[in-house]
Amino acid sequence: MEILVARHAGFCFGVERAIDIVKNASETEECIATFGPIIHNPQVVEELARKGIKLVSNINELNKNTAIIIRSHGIEKQMLSELQEHSSKVIDATCPFVQKAQKSAYELSTTCDKVIILGEVNHPEVRGIISYIIGDYAVVESADDIKDFEFRNKYGLVAQTTQNQDVFKEVSSALKAKCNELILAKTICSATYKRQEAAIEVASVVELMIVIGGKNSANTTRLYHLCKDICPKTYHIETVEEIDKSIFQGINKVGITAGASTPVELITKVREYILEVGHE
Ligand code: F3S
Repeated sequence: MEILVARHAGFCFGVERAIDIVKNASETEECIATFGPIIHNPQVVEELARKGIKLVSNINELNKNTAIIIRSHGIEKQMLSELQEHSSKVIDATCPFVQKAQKSAYELSTTCDKVIILGEVNHPEVRGIISYIIGDYAVVESADDIKDFEFRNKYGLVAQTTQNQDVFKEVSSALKAKCNELILAKTICSATYKRQEAAIEVASVVELMIVIGGKNSANTTRLYHLCKDICPKTYHIETVEEIDKSIFQGINKVGITAGASTPVELITKVREYILEVGHE
């Protein structure tokens, strides 16, 4: 059995940084909690819980003795002030690239008639970006969503950091036809497209592809669909236990990739498992 692990699989810079911030805070703070899951990986979140790091999803669950950590996706601006009031300390683990998207959204809103966000409307990162916009905005998922837009003098376009570059290009050309001037904020994180490109490269030369990552992770789900389009035998798993070994029957070449919230230990575990069952 030959196994190819895609380059850039697993933890990205922002996720690694957020986990480090949590670990450092657990050494210096008496009581800490993360506001929502620190990353979209249930196994990592469970491990942190075992170490006494609580997960708070509602501001009412907080008390003044708790230092609260903001996750890599960031949060709404208003929520940030509320957290400051209800906790002993706010530790911001928002990825610097997400902060850049929030700042760009604000800047676009001060100069454009309307800010368009390419992203998933209910994603916490997008809700955070929206909160920095002053004035008119809309969230779109594809160029199709632009068709009924009215003509404006100046539109601004910003993207959720994990969006696909090609979709960004399609949306920007659709928007260009709807205004005199379009200002683009290039906020798609390079970790995302490098991971996607590398996954596509591997998926196009293997017979079966395993995509590891939280089922609640937007970037992993996107990775899964990109691979599935090229390699129909693509499986999205969270843990090694989910793999049914019968899928490897008659397969000689397997590819592995993983979303930004997947620890390297899990990738290694999956690789070793496939090697083991591949030899049975
Ligand atoms: Fe940040 Fe990019 Fe990761 S935006 S959280 S480095 S995918």
